[in-house]
Amino acid sequence: MTKHLLSLWDFTKEELTGYLQLAAKLKEETLNGVRHQQLAGKTIAMVFEKPSTRTRVSFESAMYGLGGQVIYLSGRDTQLARNEPLKDMGRVMARYVDGLVIRTYGQEIVDELARYSSVPVINALTDLHHPCQILSDIQTVIEKKGGLEKLHVAWIGDGNNMANSWIQAASRLGFALTLACPEGYDPDPEILKKAQDAATEPITVVRDPATAVANADVINTDVWASMGQEEEQAARTKVFEAYQVNNQLVAKAKADAIVLHCLPAHREEEITAEVLEGAQCVAFDQAENKLHIHKAILLSHLG
Ligand code: CP
Ligand code: NVA
Repeated sequence: MTKHLLSLWDFTKEELTGYLQLAAKLKEETLNGVRHQQLAGKTIAMVFEKPSTRTRVSFESAMYGLGGQVIYLSGRDTQLARNEPLKDMGRVMARYVDGLVIRTYGQEIVDELARYSSVPVINALTDLHHPCQILSDIQTVIEKKGGLEKLHVAWIGDGNNMANSWIQAASRLGFALTLACPEGYDPDPEILKKAQDAATEPITVVRDPATAVANADVINTDVWASMGQEEEQAARTKVFEAYQVNNQLVAKAKADAIVLHCLPAHREEEITAEVLEGAQCVAFDQAENKLHIHKAILLSHLG
């Protein structure tokens, strides 16, 4: 059966741990100069309908680093720009390549594409999920904190695609997660309920950022207006004013708490420059780990 990566919910704790362990091994080998060739002769197509710096370059570099090839297609340059449905384009691509990495808007587009695709479909961000990102974030947390046992993660800001994937990860991997979101900007209620019902540690939504970071080992935030919400930017800036990750908020967490941001960051909006550039922030290590987790994902799905 074709093995897709559409959301973290589709995987068991053991499977998620498997990606993380493989990424750590590949990282160590890469840093020791090992040249991988496991995907030699294989090609992926990357179809991106939204901009990307990190996800695009790290997936491309990961595929080349495993000996494979990449064809990158932006929505703009293809028949997608003239309204060809992604499910049609994806089915055609599947006849040319060994895997599809997709960044688009609706999760239903990726889910539908996977139903039609005979090759693995990997979700590189939708409006609802950003599963590959959360895996590299968790790889970073494990590196910095030694594991996930007894960890308390705080999410500050929008209940967006990142928040939804963190909720699924917390439920599957078993760590406590408190999200502080303004009213009206909560995570997806269905994802939250399912995750809470299956969780072994509490997953809670609160309104007050200080409550969320109390006793936190990890503080995590993201932009206030995601891709596709640009016209809401001004209104959101007002709503989210009290949800900035700044030194005062970080001081309310554990003294050795780390700060995560998937990037791109908007300095002085969701995070201050001081915190982003400060000693507790691991955003650039997180970005680096995207390379290694993407290698692990490509190898697990195409290998
Ligand atoms: N974090 C992340 O997905 O960044 P890009 O949008 O640059 O890919
Ligand atoms: N929530 C952000 C994540 C960017 C990597 C967005 O969807 O734009």
